[in-house]
Amino acid sequence: MNTFTYSYPTKVYFGEKSAGNNLPAELAKVGKNVMLAYGGGSIKKNGIYDELMSILETAGKNVVEFSGIMSNPTYAKVQEGAKIARENGIDFILAVGGGSVIDCCKVISAQAKLSENLWEFENEKHSSPSEFIPMGAVVTAFGTGAEENCGAVITHEEKKIKGALWGAFYSFAILDPAYTMTMPMKQVISGSFDALSHCMETYMGSPRDVNLSDEINEACQRNIIRNLRATLNDPNDIISARSELVWAAAMAENGMLKIGKVTDFQAHMLEHQLGAYTDCNHGEGLAVIHPVLYRHMLPEAEKQFARLAVNVWGISADGKSEKQLAEEFINALADFIKEVGLPTKFSEMGISNADFKAIADSTVLTGGCCKKFTREELLEVLNECS
Ligand code: NZQ
Ligand code: ZN
Repeated sequence: MNTFTYSYPTKVYFGEKSAGNNLPAELAKVGKNVMLAYGGGSIKKNGIYDELMSILETAGKNVVEFSGIMSNPTYAKVQEGAKIARENGIDFILAVGGGSVIDCCKVISAQAKLSENLWEFENEKHSSPSEFIPMGAVVTAFGTGAEENCGAVITHEEKKIKGALWGAFYSFAILDPAYTMTMPMKQVISGSFDALSHCMETYMGSPRDVNLSDEINEACQRNIIRNLRATLNDPNDIISARSELVWAAAMAENGMLKIGKVTDFQAHMLEHQLGAYTDCNHGEGLAVIHPVLYRHMLPEAEKQFARLAVNVWGISADGKSEKQLAEEFINALADFIKEVGLPTKFSEMGISNADFKAIADSTVLTGGCCKKFTREELLEVLNECS
């Protein structure tokens, strides 16, 4: 295990009624002007908006709404939010939604306090913002675990880059599984796969000998696989299936599985650039990419894949070589993707004529991946996915 420092700043309130039970005390700690940020309006249909507004009014807050945060949030939307925050002297941001709203607000929180362009500040000057508007998150769609970390994935449309910007940690996150019950099933499935992908991307990093983080990680992967199946069997099972998925997704991104490791995340880097060019659904893009990318990584990743075959997918090791087990892991993963109804080809996602060369050329090549991919090989991967 590598040397590490672990500290975790986000307070998590998990379970039914956690907004009603905990938001009033959290709001009492912050200033009067609150930005209520949300997406395309699902919270108005399922009652979450009314419930939160009533808590905010009782707390005596001046509420400024910032809505319409789209999936795969854009840098332009961040700027719009930062302007509203500045003009209204916002003291606190309450982000209500899935990864897109939660990420967008992380960056608004930094950009509102910075006179320079944050993209250039971080990516060209390699500086880090130091002042933020404090924030709280109410999670309505699980999967990304975005409320658990301080990295945001933002699409810069002009530059055609979907990349990381670093903001602040949320001071608290409310995870009420009941709030996620109106998610479209397609999003439940893609969100669950995203969480599984986060686990695998962390597991595949280095060092590659098993450590405590990896053993907890294997349990998270088993949990996600089992509970996605249970959810598909009974979509209304909130206690034993949905609650588990919500927490497993948070666990994948709260830093716990990353302790003592450098992560891989090569599949994510490729998917993010696919997103920059096609605006596709994140979890679905990952589902198509993972098995194909993993077949390319097989020689370098044999040992870890073989371990996943046995410890996560329950494949018997009897009489099998490491290589055979590694192949069986990829087959099990691909079968699972089909079984839960995720796409297996870009064409099933409506992606037919994306500029794969530009995507491969602009993808970040990660240091933690066991294989050093070339851009030519990433292009092969993309072509095999289509
Ligand atoms: O916008 P509304 O109307 O709210 O609808 C959303 C959206 O259409 C809907 N939804 C959310 N909660 C709902 C609901 N519909 C009904 N009932 C509810 N309770 O779900 C749709 C998708 O929401 P979105 O936030 O876009 O999805 P997700 O949570 O998958 O977030 C995706 C974004 O997060 C980034 C992705 O790249 C993508 O931009 N990621 C962020 C990460 C991070 N910061 O750690 C890690 C991930 O790897 C990922 O890259
Ligand atoms: Zn992801």
